[in-house]
This record gives sequence, C-alpha cells and structure tokens, in this order.
Amino acid sequence: MKPQTNFDLVLFGATGDLAMRKLLPALYQAHAAGLLHPQGRILGVSRSKFSREEFLAKVGRDSKIHIKNIEDAAWAQFEQRIDYLSLDVGEAADFSALADKVNQRPDTDAVVVYLSTAPKFFAPACEKLAAAGLNAPKVRIVLEKPLGTDLASCRKINEDVAAYFQENQIYRIDHYLGKEGLQNLLPLRFGNSLFEPLWNKDYIQSVQITIAETLGVEERGEFYDITGALRDMVQNHIVQMLCFTAMERPKSLAADDVRDEKLKVIQSLKPLNDIDKQAIRGQYAPSAGLNGYAQEHKVPVDSRTETYVAIKAEIDNPRWAGVPFYLRTGKRLAGRTAEIVLNFKPQPDDGKLYAAVPNRIVISLQPQETVRVRLAVKAVGSDRTVPAEMVLDLAQAAAGRRAEAYELLLREVIDGRLNLFNRRDELEAAWAWLTPVLEHWAASPVPPHLYPAGSHGVEAARAMLAENGDLWLEEQD
Ligand code: BG6
Repeated sequence: MKPQTNFDLVLFGATGDLAMRKLLPALYQAHAAGLLHPQGRILGVSRSKFSREEFLAKVGRDSKIHIKNIEDAAWAQFEQRIDYLSLDVGEAADFSALADKVNQRPDTDAVVVYLSTAPKFFAPACEKLAAAGLNAPKVRIVLEKPLGTDLASCRKINEDVAAYFQENQIYRIDHYLGKEGLQNLLPLRFGNSLFEPLWNKDYIQSVQITIAETLGVEERGEFYDITGALRDMVQNHIVQMLCFTAMERPKSLAADDVRDEKLKVIQSLKPLNDIDKQAIRGQYAPSAGLNGYAQEHKVPVDSRTETYVAIKAEIDNPRWAGVPFYLRTGKRLAGRTAEIVLNFKPQPDDGKLYAAVPNRIVISLQPQETVRVRLAVKAVGSDRTVPAEMVLDLAQAAAGRRAEAYELLLREVIDGRLNLFNRRDELEAAWAWLTPVLEHWAASPVPPHLYPAGSHGVEAARAMLAENGDLWLEEQD
C-alpha cells in the first residue's frame, strides 16, 4: 500500500451547500474506508462566528443526512479531524490566525486549500494566503467551478491566482473527471487494440455526447438564471467528455501529457460560425404537472436563460474531419443519463449480403457504467440478421469499492496528482470556443425554443441531426 499523505485541508465556504452536501460526506467516506492519513486534519473556514462545537453541530445536522451507511464510531473519529476557524476574506489578521493554525503542524506533507466560494473571493483569498506565507510549494489550491462566465472573466481569475501560485499548485475541479466511466475511456481506447483502428472518420459516421437530467433547477434559480446550461454544463463537463472521446494517444499518463492532448482537441474545434444552425437553445415549459423554468423559484417570468443546449461541433484534424459531434444537455428531460454514442458507418456493400445493422458503441457514465456494442447476429432459423447488444458492465468487470466523484478528486488533490484537474489553457480554450455563442444569444431577438418538461428536448435539435440523416440515440432502433 502506498504511504498516505499527511495533510491539512482548509475548506473555505465550509458552511455552504457544496461543503455540506458533497465535500464533507466525501471526506467521511474516505475516512471510513481508511484512505486518509490518521493525522490528516480538516479545517472548516467561513465567515460565520461559530465555535468548533457549533460547526460540528451544523455538520451533524446538514451533512450527515447526505451520507449513506454511517457508522457511529467512525463518525466520532471523523469529527476528531475537524476544526473550525471564523475568517473574513477581507481581513489580513484572520489569515495570520489561519497560518498559525496550519503552522502548528509543520510536518504535514500537503496543505490543501479548497475554495468552495463564489469566484469573486478567489483573488483576495489567494493574495492574503500568500501574504500569510500560505503559498509554499506544499500548498495546493482547489478552485471550484464555475471558473468565469466567459473567456475574459476566466482569464482574469487565472491571472489573479497565478500571481500567487504556480500552475502545478492549482487544481481546477470538474467533477465529471472524477467519474470512473469517463476515466475508463482512455484504457478502453488505448489499452485495447480492438477499437482504436476504427476510432476515426473512416469508420465513424457521427458521435453524440449527452448529459440529460430529470431534475429542474430546484432551489438554484438565482444562480442558474445568470448561468444557463451552456456555462453550467457544456463549457466544462461536455467539453471534457468530448476530449476523452476524441483525443490522440498521450505520450504517457503524466498529467501534462494527457492535458496536452485534450487541449489539442479543444483548439481543433471549428469555430461555430452559423450559430443559429449549429447551437440550439431551449427552455422547459410547464407540462404534466411540472413547472416550466419561468415558474421556478427566483426565476424571472420573462427569463431567456437556456436550460437545454444542442450543438453540432466539428473537429478539424485528420482523425475527425467531417464527422459531426452532436453535444447536448438539458434539465427536466425524460431520463437521467450521461453517455457517449459512436455511430458507425454502414457496411460498404450497402446491405447486399445482410440487411444493414449499423454498429454502435454506447459508453454510459450514469445511471449505470456500461459499454454497449451493437452488432448484427443471425436470426434463429433464418439467414437474416437481427440487431443485438453486447453489454460490458464496468462495475461488475472491475470489482471494488467505487468512490463518488468528489471523494476521488479530494484524494487526488491530497496526493498531489493533477491528472483529473483542468489546466488553465484547456479552460480558456473552451471558453474561447463558446464565448461567441453566448454573445450571439445575448444579442439575439429570438428567445430559446420551449420544450415540454419531461420530454426529450427541443424539436429543432432533432431537425439539426435530420439534415445529416442522423437521429438521437432514443430514436435509433
Ligand atoms: C453540476 C451542475 O456541475 O453538475 C448542475 O452545476 C448539474 O446543474 C450537475 O445538475 C450534474 O452532475 P451529475 O454528476 O449529477 O451528472
């Protein structure tokens, strides 16, 4: 077993929603599985004037409910790791108090500072951390998404943080990179000789990448209305799924080798010049007893924010030239899925010997982690063929405890592995590709298309595929 890293984890925004719902539960799970160094410490930080006991009481109320299979003894030990400090990001003296706490344990291997706060606090927090001496090489800074709202604001955040921390100290979170099903794409493609020879424009007709959610915006109307699906999901999660699907073989699995190849994919995306045709936006309308987006809590009734996006993208490189990549995501859709579909070209003999059954690979990240390959097989008692699916269940194939994305990512930061975090240039390239779409929509008199809550989304997105003779997966046989 590899030696564990002795760490101090300073959690800014410790009383916030993400900390309570995801981060503290994830840390508990890692603790309960014996994956945290016995001396590893969690220091909650926020403006609230709590004592340690009051903070622990809040964690007990607001965080414990998000943890499955809690054991009292393990929880009591977990609490021993937790301390609390009330801190105002504007107060230099508070940062000296923080530094004193951290310096009580000079023997730690890593100090992880997780900024689970609004991005406007990133720059002042980094500046004061550095002024208090908390930017030594063993300090790692974790930035929670959204990192900016367009190219200019993303660059500004990156520049501000880079004034105090080296790039290899900065961990930019995209929790999709913590999903096993996504990570599995690299070994699937580059650890098998079966798929890679076919993974290109000569064999693949089109690629679809979908993240569909059944939930609406719930209690997040205020945040969501100034964000929208393009910023919330496409710029980050969907682009990362695209990178893993389309990238070339990296020189090694070292973080920068993988990130170099992902960057090349984003930089090879053709500019979206005909935005009305290539980027469709939608908003859910009331249906089947469900609210429309404009009726949701804290959403203006005349909101034009998109809750659905479908984009037809193209990668301008020798492997993918001419292959459409259909990207889509939406809230209040018919089902919850995150999947990548590769539709193969039909047989070259045009079905002369056997009726055409185009092959297809579907890689699902959720709700199940599976790889499904669609093949033609012989129908019993006949020469005809019928379609069949070969299903690989990843959870069965690779047994073992599967960690939630945030748990895995937190352990990776503690261990100092940058592979599952985004480098500055990747994020900026993704914004550079998508910012024209945001600008076009902001200036356009045409509102988003409405789609019924609980449906498969916008009709115009179906038409966009039909122009190429393509169908979304749910319409394929
Ligand atoms: C988050 C978005 O990044 O991802 C949410 O802000 C979205 O709006 C969530 O619901 C989806 O994540 P998952 O892991 O549930 O697919």
